[in-house]
Amino acid sequence: MKVAVMGYGTVGSGVVEVIESHDNVITKRTGGEPLEVAHILDLRDFPGDPHEKLFTKDFNDILSDDEVRVVAETMGGVEPAFSFTMKLLKAGKSVVTSNKELVAQKGLELLEAAEESGANYLFEASVGGGIPIIRPMSQCLAANNIEGVAGILNGTTNFILTKMIEEDMDFSDALKLAQDNGYAEKDPTADIEGFDACRKVCILASLAFGKHVYPNQVATEGITKITLEDVAYIHSIKGVIKLLGQIKYISDDKIAAFVSPAVVQHGSQLASVNDVFNAILVRGDAVGDVCFYGPGAGKLPTASAVVADMVDAAKHIERKKIFGWGAGSEDYVVDYKSTIEMPFYVRAKANKVKIQAIFGEVKFLSRIGQPSDEVAFITDRMTENALDNKLAGVDVINIIKVTNY
Ligand code: HSE
Repeated sequence: MKVAVMGYGTVGSGVVEVIESHDNVITKRTGGEPLEVAHILDLRDFPGDPHEKLFTKDFNDILSDDEVRVVAETMGGVEPAFSFTMKLLKAGKSVVTSNKELVAQKGLELLEAAEESGANYLFEASVGGGIPIIRPMSQCLAANNIEGVAGILNGTTNFILTKMIEEDMDFSDALKLAQDNGYAEKDPTADIEGFDACRKVCILASLAFGKHVYPNQVATEGITKITLEDVAYIHSIKGVIKLLGQIKYISDDKIAAFVSPAVVQHGSQLASVNDVFNAILVRGDAVGDVCFYGPGAGKLPTASAVVADMVDAAKHIERKKIFGWGAGSEDYVVDYKSTIEMPFYVRAKANKVKIQAIFGEVKFLSRIGQPSDEVAFITDRMTENALDNKLAGVDVINIIKVTNY
């Protein structure tokens, strides 16, 4: 079967490589039909690339090729990926994607277009890189009411935090290394400010609870405020700091969803997830906690998931896969700061007496080199708004959520 690839960056070139290098296994898994890359769309030139004859700068070459039934969109960004994907789906071609920004922003419209034309829109690679999570969430856990999801969803930030914690590496050196390894987004702000994890939270929340969640509904905080001092305090209570996406079921009409650094205790399955690895812990009412772990970014792991979707789309060319969700609403995602209670780690310029006067008995933390006018402590469970009220007159240095996952 002829296929096409749109976007020949890290993931797209990996897709072409995997299709070629895994020809035998792919042909077996499609039921005897090899995948043949007929077009590669990219505006850039790739002189000397062995696929030179396949390159095109004109999207219509793919759209008008009736033999192309499955297209991988690995361009990233909303436009022109959205317009191209919409046209392909309307033309009855199946599209598979690693583009989490597009699925998070426009997934509902694209899934509806696929529904109408009978094509498939598949996005296993959009969350967790090479980790199987979209199908397990929507199929294998289908018997459960999902109570919550917590995930380390961004490989770049997990890589940076690991290098900072374990090798004392500078933030910018660790980021550069993540970029060199092909983990980071084109604009790595999306990684370090949490936007990439936010998009993945939107996709997981939409799948888990059946209503579209948009990025602007998910409160998002990145890792730029995390310091080695915070790491040392948290280490003293056998914890680590991770960038977590968290989703909580409240009722059929309400969920909470947020992305932030979080303290994870050493016993948690998430605590030992290091480097570029991601893990997604899903809490179901029948199954309990299940954790999906693996490489969360990178050329071949992500390509592995994209090509698996291409195989699935090729196998189901005349059949519709049941994936998707319905419309969300503005008030569907609650303001977690006024609703969700949890303990917090607080670091402040203050003395213990003042903190005890405000919070009562709290757990104080210590670190080597702690200045005499600095305290760090873990609060009781409370909402973030209640915490902010209590801290109104305190010179706060940092606040980090403590998770129960
Ligand atoms: N920049 C992303 C990450 C790529 O680091 O996780 C995979 O989605």
